[in-house]
Amino acid sequence: MTLLITGATGFIGRHLCARLTAREQPVLALMRHPQALAKLRATVDRLGGNSHYLDALPGDLDAPDLGLTGSPPPLDAVVHLGARFGWRLPAEAARRTNVSGSLAVARLARHQHCRLVFISGFMLENQRHLKRLGIDGEDPAAIDWQRVYRRAGAYEASKMEAAITVRWRLRNEDWVEVQPATVAGHSLNGDLDPAQPLHTLIDNLARGRLAMIPGGPGHWLPLIPVDTLAAIIDHAIRVPAPPRRILGLDPGTPNLKPMLSLIAETLGCRAPGLHFPIPLLAHLLRLPALARFANTEPEALHFIQPERFDLSATTPFLERTGVRLPPMPQVLRASARHYLESHGRTSEKRQGSR
Ligand SMILES: NC(=O)c1ccc[n+]([C@@H]2O[C@H](COP(=O)([O-])OP(=O)(O)OC[C@H]3O[C@@H](n4cnc5c(N)ncnc54)[C@H](OP(=O)(O)O)[C@@H]3O)[C@@H](O)[C@H]2O)c1
Repeated sequence: MTLLITGATGFIGRHLCARLTAREQPVLALMRHPQALAKLRATVDRLGGNSHYLDALPGDLDAPDLGLTGSPPPLDAVVHLGARFGWRLPAEAARRTNVSGSLAVARLARHQHCRLVFISGFMLENQRHLKRLGIDGEDPAAIDWQRVYRRAGAYEASKMEAAITVRWRLRNEDWVEVQPATVAGHSLNGDLDPAQPLHTLIDNLARGRLAMIPGGPGHWLPLIPVDTLAAIIDHAIRVPAPPRRILGLDPGTPNLKPMLSLIAETLGCRAPGLHFPIPLLAHLLRLPALARFANTEPEALHFIQPERFDLSATTPFLERTGVRLPPMPQVLRASARHYLESHGRTSEKRQGSR
């Protein structure tokens, strides 16, 4: 069984490759910079995988038909994690990588007659949010995407357009959509990439940039540890007849205020106590200088919300596959400890180079 993974070099992709190769699963990583394979192999080994089972397939989500030079070997599944992630992305670039790229990956899976596991995001299950953006119904052609891009920002809008269009185009094929919450560090060692949104939140807290809590007492930022998400994706690849959509989200994630207190306690810093309305904060952060000063972008605030999610399709899948959600306080402490350790290492390196 050979799997093709896009986004293998990313934070989730690296952990997924480690999990899959540890059980001797051959993995082909679609890489736009295949010369980085040696680095990826070293990372996968460090994360407990077996890089002997990992190879690269040169390809680019931005290129027509993924820029593949020949046909890939027969595949048993394609996992699509690759995406252009960032705030204030130009709509055209986000659409090219995240929408056209996803459609090209979906065509490849269809051509190979294999399962597509594609990774969207938990906000695709926030019905009130979808309605506010003007997303109603399943036909992508009936949605005013320009309005969605204006309201949600290009990253989130392009992820939504990709998911809704892939579902529509592959209606009768074998696909599973995994919808992760914001990704937290590894549940045991806290490994968390500095480019991850939760890392930015921890960094802001550590540096005293988070003077108030965005939203009210009921607001939360749903999380999922990276290793639990990798386990969910692994089972989504393999189980017969999985649900169409699986929410990778721990409903036991504390609300934002207790979550920040817990992280602050591990960091040894003060947690903010006062709430601040999100619409007002989003308005203020439209000023780029203020957003830079606060190290927060208005688009990032959408993910902090009071909505609770329907897990009626996901819970039986987790029970069937034996995936357990580790206690979230443990995950948050591990992520904060990892931040402290890697931050200490960075300052030591800086001092050493002086
Ligand atoms: N992290 C989260 O909190 C979160 C939450 C919900 C959903 N998701 C979704 O989960 C997926 C993975 O997230 P992540 O946090 O692991 O992302 P990440 O660390 O930012 O990694 C992105 C990956 O996409 C690849 N990529 C970007 N542009 C590409 C292109 N043109 N051609 C080929 N590959 C390209 C990157 O490869 P290079 O090494 O070449 O740059 C990298 O491997 C994304 O689809 C994201 O939207 C993430």
